[in-house]
Amino acid sequence: MNKKVEIQYEEYSHWNELGKEEQDLVKHAYQICENAYAPYSKFSVGASALLSNNEIVKGSNQENIAYPSGLCAERVAIFYAGSNYPKAKILKLYISASPVDRDLDQPIPPCGSCRQSIAEYEIKQDHDIEIYFMGSKGKIYKSDSLKNILPFMFDKKYL
Ligand code: THU
Repeated sequence: MNKKVEIQYEEYSHWNELGKEEQDLVKHAYQICENAYAPYSKFSVGASALLSNNEIVKGSNQENIAYPSGLCAERVAIFYAGSNYPKAKILKLYISASPVDRDLDQPIPPCGSCRQSIAEYEIKQDHDIEIYFMGSKGKIYKSDSLKNILPFMFDKKYL
């Protein structure tokens, strides 16, 4: 029997279609790309997150010559949140990415490892995380929850 999984997301053609708070958070994600350390891939990624205690945390990708030792921007940001504000919930996560030397107008979704890491926080905090992702300009995709972009996710309930 064939089965289908549908995912739901919203598309905005430009960041200025978002509300003021969302626009600011997109700007944080875009600006923190400046601090990416990406000498190997030359691909900068920035992430910002709004927490339930009103803190905004940010991260950028940090690479390493031993490639797997580096870390994606999203995980830098959410692990910082978990380390410094363990009781706060992550409400919204914004991702902006592009090659270091040019703009990219295509939304860049979080990688599989980042999705699994975001899933852990969504389950831990029992609260959905809104995820917005974009290139460096142009379209933005928004998902109301990590669950939309990680169908069949591995969950502690299976243990
Ligand atoms: N990267 C991120 O920071 N987030 C993702 O979700 C995808 C990939 C980084 C990792 C590496 O530094 C560079 O982008 C190229 O893969």
